[in-house]
Amino acid sequence: MMKVMIVRDYDEMSRRAAEIVKEQILKKPDTVLGLATGSTPLGMYKYLIEMHKNGEIDFSNVITFNLDEYIGLSPDHPQSYHYYMYENLFNHINIKKENIHIPNGVAEDLEEECKRYEREIRRIGRIDLQILGIGVNGHIGFNEPDESIETKTHIVTLTEETINANKRFFKSIEEVPRRAITMGLSSIMKARKIMLLASGSNKAKAIKETLKGRLTTKVPSTVLALHPDVTIIIDKGAASLLTDEELANVELTD
Ligand code: F6R
Repeated sequence: MMKVMIVRDYDEMSRRAAEIVKEQILKKPDTVLGLATGSTPLGMYKYLIEMHKNGEIDFSNVITFNLDEYIGLSPDHPQSYHYYMYENLFNHINIKKENIHIPNGVAEDLEEECKRYEREIRRIGRIDLQILGIGVNGHIGFNEPDESIETKTHIVTLTEETINANKRFFKSIEEVPRRAITMGLSSIMKARKIMLLASGSNKAKAIKETLKGRLTTKVPSTVLALHPDVTIIIDKGAASLLTDEELANVELTD
């Protein structure tokens, strides 16, 4: 059963999430972390940096795999997920460069890049703790709602909803890349533990669908109900549409 933690606000969500990451790394210093970008994990990354600076977390043996990257944005592009990760986390902790994995959105052969990324994940084994945000349409990684979804690392065409949601990071909507490389649901679901974070009432509908207990590729996050160890940390806004019906499907924790 999915565990759900309903917390006061964004800051508390971020702090609780960082504590879970810290515990994981203390338990297993060579933890393989699956990482997300976007607005949601920013606060968690700030706490992780602070914990590292206080000597509470050593990242020297940690391995990371990012979920996704925009196609066409080079690592030095300020809106690329490479740039985001260095700016918001990697530059401030003692992680080794060779332990960082992010799909290359400017690879000459993008199909081959997907295969290479998939091989890299498999070479390391499996992800110990996968951190996820959620799209307003229920996407996880950039696995967008569709009739069917490829399960391995693949190229996706972003939906209008996602392009609209992400235009806030770009000067104009035209600049938002239309395609991305994303880790597949297979690697996400193979993770030993998954932690999904959501904050704000714009995520309330996606969270409600996720907890409904009805699996559909039209809401990719619904697949999480099949995973044995999922913790969902949401604030009051993201929890605002939940009724007894959804809450009966989960284990509430604090
Ligand atoms: C980002 C990712 C996406 C985001 C989602 C929510 O690496 O994989 O699934 O987690 O789009 O984005 P925010 O947090 O900006 O609302």
